[in-house]
Amino acid sequence: MTQAKDEIKIGGLGASRKRVEDNRFIRGKGRYVDDIVLPGMLHMEILRSPVAHARITSIDTSKAWTIPGVRLVLTGEMMAARNLAWMPTLSYDTQAVLATDKVRFQGQEVACVIADDPYIAKDACEAIVVEYEPLPVIVNPTQALADGAPVIRDDKENQPDNVAFTWEVGDRQGTDDAFAKADLVSKLDLHYPRSHPSPLECCGSIADFDRSTSKLTVYMTTQAPHIIRAAVALVAELPEHMIRIISPDLGGGFGNKVPVYPGYVMSILASILLERPVKWIEDKSGNLISTGFGRDVYLHGELALRKDGKILAVRMHTDSDHGAFFADAQPSKFKIGLMHSTFACYDVPTAHLTARGVYTNKAPGGVAYRCSFRVTEAMYFQERMVQAAADDLGMDQAEFRRRNFVRDDDFPHRTPFGFLTDSGQYNKCLDVGLEAIGYADFLTEKAEAKKRGRLLGIGISTMTEPLGAGNSREYDILGIKMFDSAELRVHMTGKAILRTGAKSQGQGHETTWAQIVAHELGIPADDITVEEGDTDTAPFGMGTYASRSTPVAGAAVAMVSRKVRAKARKLAAHLLEVSEEDIEWELGRFYVRSAPAHGVTIQECAMAAYSNMPDGMEPGLENVSYYDPPNLTWPFGCYIATVEVDPQTGVWDVLRMVAVDDCGVRINPMIVEGQIMGGLTEAYAMASNQFITFDAQGNCVGSNYMDYMLPTAWETPGYELHEVVTPSPHHPIGAKGVGECATVGGPAAFVNAVLDAIRDTGVRNIDMPLLPDRVYEALTKRHDVSG
Ligand code: CDP
Repeated sequence: MTQAKDEIKIGGLGASRKRVEDNRFIRGKGRYVDDIVLPGMLHMEILRSPVAHARITSIDTSKAWTIPGVRLVLTGEMMAARNLAWMPTLSYDTQAVLATDKVRFQGQEVACVIADDPYIAKDACEAIVVEYEPLPVIVNPTQALADGAPVIRDDKENQPDNVAFTWEVGDRQGTDDAFAKADLVSKLDLHYPRSHPSPLECCGSIADFDRSTSKLTVYMTTQAPHIIRAAVALVAELPEHMIRIISPDLGGGFGNKVPVYPGYVMSILASILLERPVKWIEDKSGNLISTGFGRDVYLHGELALRKDGKILAVRMHTDSDHGAFFADAQPSKFKIGLMHSTFACYDVPTAHLTARGVYTNKAPGGVAYRCSFRVTEAMYFQERMVQAAADDLGMDQAEFRRRNFVRDDDFPHRTPFGFLTDSGQYNKCLDVGLEAIGYADFLTEKAEAKKRGRLLGIGISTMTEPLGAGNSREYDILGIKMFDSAELRVHMTGKAILRTGAKSQGQGHETTWAQIVAHELGIPADDITVEEGDTDTAPFGMGTYASRSTPVAGAAVAMVSRKVRAKARKLAAHLLEVSEEDIEWELGRFYVRSAPAHGVTIQECAMAAYSNMPDGMEPGLENVSYYDPPNLTWPFGCYIATVEVDPQTGVWDVLRMVAVDDCGVRINPMIVEGQIMGGLTEAYAMASNQFITFDAQGNCVGSNYMDYMLPTAWETPGYELHEVVTPSPHHPIGAKGVGECATVGGPAAFVNAVLDAIRDTGVRNIDMPLLPDRVYEALTKRHDVSG
């Protein structure tokens, strides 16, 4: 049998191994925060503001205190007395834990009640009387930047207006010069609307402070338990070893479970004050209106073009709406995340980006919803601009991309904004996609259909995106450098336990990490237990978001396995009575080079590590690895959608969706395909229907699943998946991240397809979601439709 076949047999790299975690999930045996019941546990409920902007004139909690079973009522004033009314955000801003002076968005936390059961706590919340003095409400950047606009963050010194930040990057002069020489300038204005990650499980925590040991244990829905431990240590001034954060099974995260929310802080304080475990479980509307939103960015974009189709320069300005607190959970030192990773797959000589972030009366925005810190917006803007430019030039959209792609032999390639891309086969991916969709035939079919009044369209979206923050030089969270970790302990019998600093929320790490160990050590994946999420046992890591797990923690898993193999090699030399230099390795076995039949298995080496080690060697077979990646990984996606638009109603249907993903070496092809399908479904939802907006009073429209669509199998189109493999040159097993690629690249393919179908109207843009009434308006009124 070949090594590759052996490897598939033991569940190594390339095996579509069934997800081991599903054994408990499909039996209803998952252990989520809400499943945990501790002796003497109390329950916390939060009173939220019904209005978006108002001064609090009084809070009367007297009636709430009289309700039997109520143990504690917390207000902003009480938090302020403990210096906890405000907390730092991951973007170096501050955020109210409980409002003291004003409420700044609908759903903001105003008070909370801790009681014997959640129903009593809820009733008591309703008994709290809050008087509000309404203030003018600001719900978009135009209002925020208008002369005389009320200052939302009047709590901050030196904050005369609603600008949260300004930032610029790139070569302004060089870009201006290139625009002066352009044959054509293509312009586009777009809005990427607010969206909500909306994991099925909402946020929650159980804080359990034990006065007798001084230990605080917090079960918490967090994607980054070690960061939370560091934050609690800093804010609550508790020693780190006395804080244990446990993130049990998570029902999705998608970036929503990265920030620190007031509910976590209040449950911790309540447990310390009451010396009882305190559970807080958010309800769905609470989650939808108050926790980290994504997107909400306005773009003005320009491309300087030569008439042969070459892009000479890119100019972009973005206005992003961050809500009331600049709480983006992003570890880059750049104010608008990685927006400037845009145009990385195209060979663009020069570019310039200015960015401005504003405060509005909305919940904090800007979380990386299945995204690497604004990369979704960046790639959407890029691919919409690319299609508009091809149209302006009268050039085929595939050909336009081909003329501008970075070529295979141009790597490593410095992007116009300074990133270093290192690998890819962009033309090949496009070819595979065009071939799969039958590009030429579809264009003919489209022309024929048009004669009969039918509107068919085809949209392409091609992009490379940076996945895998760090490296530690450029990325940190609150000063903690970005890296990740793995600890591997091989037991005497050759079974093993692996712990990492990542934290799966459904991505299948328990399955795939074991496959990497199987690949490196030849231990069958079924013999390896994977654990994540407990800061008392897992090595320090930065958690899981932005598809960083495979690029960073996955790399650490390979590296720690190699360290263990290096020790096993010494043990093998001892057992085989030869020197280490005379030993060869094959999957799961060391053998003597000159006598291949003479060998020992990795399991025999493990036994020897505890029972027969050479003189002077420490017993045991375990190690730990902290991995600081030299670069981000750069997967590539090519998404092509065909649609038909009904001219009578504006309703559009997806005919086909082809996805070609190059995420380097695939650890588990089945899981990768699942990630891509899930990502495309979210992309389709955002492009077509999903809408969480705010009315003029700042009321959140979309605060429940009657209004905010989560696509089911019924609405979801079918997907045709293809792959190209260009290994990452620096990742130890050549893998690149993939989890978010389809969400990032997918939306532009659907939107481009609809705009292609109605191209004859001259309409250049309809903002997402492309609801039928918007498409109908564009068709009948022949003008752009902004969101
Ligand atoms: O950080 P996150 O887990 O969300 O994203 P990821 O690193 O892209 O991985 C998502 C899932 O796909 C994990 O189970 C990975 O191990 C798996 N994967 C894979 O099998 N092969 C790759 N080249 C990339 C990811």
